[in-house]
Amino acid sequence: MGCKIIELLIWVSSVLCFQCFARGFTPADNYLIDCGSLANSTVGGRVFMADDLASKLLSTPQRVVGNTSKSIISSAVSRLYQTARIFTGVSKYTFPISQRGRLWIRLYFSPFVYATYNMSSAKFDVSTENHVLLSSFSVGAHLVKEFSVNITTDSLAIIFTPSENSFAFINALEVVSVPDQLIPDHARTVKSSVGFQGLMWQALETVARVNMGGPMVSFKNDTLHRTWVPDQSFLIEKNLASTVSNTRAVKYVDGGSTPEIAPVSVYGSCTKMNSLGDPNSNFNVTWEFNVDPGFQHLVRFHFCDIVSTSLNQLYFNVFIDSSMVVRDLDLSAYLGNVLAAAYYMDFVTDSATMNKLRVSIGPSNLRGAYPDAILNGLEIMKLNNSDGSLTGLGTANTSGSSSKKKVGAIVGASVGVAFGLLLAGLLFMFCRKRRRVAHRRQSKTWIPFSTNGGTSHTIGSKYSEGTTASLNSNTGYHIPFLAVQEATNNFDESLVIGIGGFGKVYKGELNDGTKVAVKRGNPQSQQGLAEFQTEIEMLSQFRHRHLVSLIGYCDEKNEMILIYEYMENGTLKSHLYGSGHPSLSWKQRLEICIGAARGLHYLHTGYAKAVIHRDVKSANILLDENLMAKVADFGLSKTGPEIDQTHVSTAVKGSFGYLDPEYFRRQQLTEKSDVYSFGVVLFEVLCARPVIDPTLPREMVNLAEWAMKWQKRGQLVQIIDSNLKGKIRPDSLRKFGETAEKCLADFGVDRPSMGDVLWNLEYALQLQEAVKNSTNMIGELSPQINNFSQLDPTVSSEQFVLSSVDDLSGASMSKVFSQLVKSEGR
Ligand SMILES: *[C@@H]1O[C@H](CO)[C@@H](O)[C@H](O)[C@H]1NC(C)=O
Ligand SMILES: *[C@@H]1O[C@H](CO)[C@@H](O)[C@H](O)[C@H]1NC(C)=O
Ligand SMILES: *[C@@H]1O[C@H](CO)[C@@H](O)[C@H](O)[C@H]1NC(C)=O
Ligand SMILES: *[C@@H]1O[C@H](CO)[C@@H](O)[C@H](O)[C@H]1NC(C)=O
Ligand SMILES: *[C@@H]1O[C@H](CO)[C@@H](O)[C@H](O)[C@H]1NC(C)=O
Ligand SMILES: *[C@@H]1O[C@H](CO)[C@@H](O)[C@H](O)[C@H]1NC(C)=O
Ligand SMILES: *[C@@H]1O[C@H](CO)[C@@H](O)[C@H](O)[C@H]1NC(C)=O
Ligand SMILES: *[C@@H]1O[C@H](CO)[C@@H](O)[C@H](O)[C@H]1NC(C)=O
Repeated sequence: MGCKIIELLIWVSSVLCFQCFARGFTPADNYLIDCGSLANSTVGGRVFMADDLASKLLSTPQRVVGNTSKSIISSAVSRLYQTARIFTGVSKYTFPISQRGRLWIRLYFSPFVYATYNMSSAKFDVSTENHVLLSSFSVGAHLVKEFSVNITTDSLAIIFTPSENSFAFINALEVVSVPDQLIPDHARTVKSSVGFQGLMWQALETVARVNMGGPMVSFKNDTLHRTWVPDQSFLIEKNLASTVSNTRAVKYVDGGSTPEIAPVSVYGSCTKMNSLGDPNSNFNVTWEFNVDPGFQHLVRFHFCDIVSTSLNQLYFNVFIDSSMVVRDLDLSAYLGNVLAAAYYMDFVTDSATMNKLRVSIGPSNLRGAYPDAILNGLEIMKLNNSDGSLTGLGTANTSGSSSKKKVGAIVGASVGVAFGLLLAGLLFMFCRKRRRVAHRRQSKTWIPFSTNGGTSHTIGSKYSEGTTASLNSNTGYHIPFLAVQEATNNFDESLVIGIGGFGKVYKGELNDGTKVAVKRGNPQSQQGLAEFQTEIEMLSQFRHRHLVSLIGYCDEKNEMILIYEYMENGTLKSHLYGSGHPSLSWKQRLEICIGAARGLHYLHTGYAKAVIHRDVKSANILLDENLMAKVADFGLSKTGPEIDQTHVSTAVKGSFGYLDPEYFRRQQLTEKSDVYSFGVVLFEVLCARPVIDPTLPREMVNLAEWAMKWQKRGQLVQIIDSNLKGKIRPDSLRKFGETAEKCLADFGVDRPSMGDVLWNLEYALQLQEAVKNSTNMIGELSPQINNFSQLDPTVSSEQFVLSSVDDLSGASMSKVFSQLVKSEGR
């Protein structure tokens, strides 16, 4: 009730106050120290004191000042990383505090080697008098850790305690007053209706600070010198989200947010549901963050409705993990009916039970509400535990008992906080993922490259010093950057053979003469690490003559490079239309479809768990010098449902025009989604036109719809590629058309399996080839094949295995797999 009255008052006064908080906040206490430096350093308009000047704050028995000539990633803060202070014993900075209240403590780390001190191997604790901030902490890359604590005395001590036989270090340090209103004492809670009280006592550690739908907001653009990173790397399904930017619309209104709470550049951009104008869209946009299990977190949502054109247009739901925290949020109702008023909401979570925290927004179920949802910014802060500690190890006393495992957990958990340098953060995450994969490989079934039978490449004896380059070794597919540079003539633009979402593809030649296609990830690419990773994993596990082979990858220097076998004849798509290639015969087309179907069939069945490609299209079917088809691009692939489930629940990915409508509706992924897309490819092959062609009359735009219309009328022949007119035997065309039609069935359960599709395409080929008296043979086969639903699936897959003698590599590999998996299980 009280709230209602306040809202009413706000509404009545309705005071717009655009920039009244923008005067800027002047911190009462402001200590900035460039540790180890001989001179003051100016970074983003702020002067970081030379170490000498700070030394009076420091009580340190042993200390060393180190500097590095190492060139550091160019960045505004790089100066701070050039020097460091090393502590060989317990040391304490004591800062006199002129104004009690909350203070930021920002710790900058960037390890280098100085004299006998290798800072990458340093291990230490950092604490204040009341709170443990870091324990058994090690740091592998640039990192800024941000904490805030409420100081109720006249000084703040920051204590560095080296672990046994180790030392501590720091490159730069900030202790700066925080405006009082930034962290209120109250917040809502996720599960209970009773709010959380007592934030004022909490020490907080910043876990994430994200600007949704916009660029990185550097500390220079934030009055409180915070860094806001873009949200792309946290989004679970990037293509479900789109972005909007309109900084001029943002209004700061009494009772809402202030420029101190978050700047205009954060409120002025958002990530929203990408509903593509579909009023039946029903999906969530979800972000995922690493958190430390066992800790509660403060989650702050920043909202500003920059997408609506009038009040009361946008209603949406907000979730933290699986709990709905706000239902039917109507932002315009909160702040005196002002559109695009900046607003924030705080929630304190229960102790995290997992190391991931998910935040989602999704459409409201309110009748008539258009499905849309937005988020402009997000902050996640870890709360200290009941011991006052922000780390899992409790107290600062780490002597003896701290196990390596715990250290790992802490280092791991600290990853999420890498916000100082986005680049550094990405690099670090990348390394971590790589390590995880490398580990998985060792523990799982790592198939050495040579199993493929004679196609192993040993490149670059030149590179034998330093990085290993032999692909036969257990380091697997790793290829040195130098070798990639050489293979592509240093990424010569004239060698570019394709450009995709991921980046550019170059033609290259390894120094043993193998021709390769080199796909170089663009750091700004929409796809990214996850896809890069998936592709390496998939391709190194699945080897088949109808799947394009991975020769290696390179992740040095923050690169994401994949090296494949070179496919002389490019994409199937380019042979169908638009590239002036000579037209393919019907037989060639059937053979290509059969090859691709084999590849997909193998993916779906060749391993204990089905693999769903998710992006089947003519541009992902490549042709070698003999026009043999190979399926490529596994970046979106997912392993299929577990035995006891029938689908994988996931948000929609794939390419427009090929997307399974059922998958789109229900976001449930099965192999049948690939079957649908493959059906579209079949029509594309037959009609030789793009799957979506907006230049055509309306009913023709979508190939799948258009072709189905003609197929249902039994008149498919009317729309086939004019080059094929009179060259397809009617039986063959009928079989082909029926096969494609079944693939496009509305419901996955009604679609054939890839094995059935394969079998029917082979049959269509036989019908085409059948001359004179071979009708007998066809007669024998036809009873089984005429109708998909009559086929016993077990029979058909057995038939498939028997019929595909030429598929030995696939079959034997799956045997190898199951054997390895079995022996692993014991
Ligand atoms: C850093 O190293 C250079 C030589 O590489 C030296 O001239 C300079 O005095 C050093 N600075 C500090 C702070 O140690
Ligand atoms: C360095 O900064 C301190 C404090 O910000 C200031 O007192 C001092 O004069 C500065 N020294 C130089 C050489 O600019
Ligand atoms: C420093 O330590 C790290 C981690 O312990 C190690 O990987 C690296 O090789 C060391 N560097 C030097 C120059 O000893
Ligand atoms: C800090 O704690 C004191 C109580 O010790 C409280 O009065 C004050 O409001 C707190 N400040 C902030 C910013 O939470
Ligand atoms: C940051 O500030 C600079 C100049 O102060 C401005 O040009 C730039 O657009 C700002 N960036 C953002 C994201 O607001
Ligand atoms: C959105 O996420 C919540 C929480 O995980 C879930 O309960 C809800 O069903 C999801 N909504 C849709 C449309 O997927
Ligand atoms: C955090 O530490 C303070 C003491 O500094 C304590 O009062 C508070 O209960 C702790 N927070 C939690 C969530 O346990
Ligand atoms: C650390 O803990 C051990 C026992 O757990 C104790 O003997 C030792 O005194 C403690 N050290 C400090 C500095 O508190």
